[in-house]
Amino acid sequence: MRAWCVVVPRGRAEEVRRALRDRGLLLKHAEILREGDRILLPARERVDLGFPVEQRDVGATFVPVRSYKDVVRVPDRLRPLLPSSFDVIGDVAVLKIPEELEAHRAEIGRAILAWNPKVRVVARDRGVSGGLRIRDVEVVAGEPRTTTVHVEYGLRYHVDVARAYFSPRLGTERMRVARQVAPGEAVADPFAGVGPYAILIARRADPARVVAADANPEAVALLRRNVAANRADRVEVGEGDARDILASVGPVDRVILDLPHRAMEFLPDALGALGPHGTVHMYGILEDAEREARALEVRYLVEGSGRTAEEVRLHDVRAYSPSQHHVAFDVRVGPG
Ligand SMILES: C[S@@+](CC[C@H](N)C(=O)[O-])C[C@H]1O[C@@H](n2cnc3c(N)ncnc32)[C@H](O)[C@@H]1O
Repeated sequence: MRAWCVVVPRGRAEEVRRALRDRGLLLKHAEILREGDRILLPARERVDLGFPVEQRDVGATFVPVRSYKDVVRVPDRLRPLLPSSFDVIGDVAVLKIPEELEAHRAEIGRAILAWNPKVRVVARDRGVSGGLRIRDVEVVAGEPRTTTVHVEYGLRYHVDVARAYFSPRLGTERMRVARQVAPGEAVADPFAGVGPYAILIARRADPARVVAADANPEAVALLRRNVAANRADRVEVGEGDARDILASVGPVDRVILDLPHRAMEFLPDALGALGPHGTVHMYGILEDAEREARALEVRYLVEGSGRTAEEVRLHDVRAYSPSQHHVAFDVRVGPG
């Protein structure tokens, strides 16, 4: 860049640099030039400090990076397709890369590593699928691993982004549920994954017991490890289908049905596990237009099972798509 420079003898350079800085006149992040015994201090404007001024082309010494997009090298026509946000799980960045950018995935990974020193692995997310909600992941830059440790509310979770479901976006929701747990409650979390609900409840509320289980053996192995790592002694770990877990766990005060695409199918089983009074937190992905109908459906299902639906409250967890929300139904149930 072209700038006015204050030209000073070497012996006075530091004194004048400070004078410029203190008056807010020093051009920040610009190179200080040396020509023989003369030092040229770049200024924000033409200034008179009793020294000559001359114009020069000065280089930038520091360019603030606001996003990995500032340092990534991809053809300009593809720039609009660069992902604007992504999850960081522990030290693993997990992001969706559109097909058009596939050939540039390693460069995108390199830029993310350069941009954020806390990120050590960049993994491409090719989608969550199957009953066990496992993510198809390809490491595109950094260390060749998919394991990490994610910290949420001061608790440490061992995670493997390629082998067991975990989303860092649901921390607030997990805390919202944990805050509702009264001392002495028995809680069932049959879709526990690596344990972020169960362990938070065990450590932040004061439950009598929390039964945490999952059908994915890899998730259960991590869950066991996380229970031990966080000294969550009141968590009892199980492995198997939620239906079997719910049939044998009861009676409990609270059930968490965190399988958003299919949770409704398990509502009768959750109701069967509850004592005379209890609460079910059931998750779903809903079109905005179907909210009321689905809440009514939940009410009918509860009443049809011979129980009272004392309250069916809908809580928005987060936007899922322009017309869909990830929602929680907090269903308070009483005796029939
Ligand atoms: C959306 S994830 C939620 C995980 C966890 N609650 C969390 O917050 O990270 C759903 C979990 O349910 C498990 N799962 C899927 N179908 C199941 C079933 N029929 N019985 C038990 N677990 C199941 C999956 O393995 C997965 O870990």
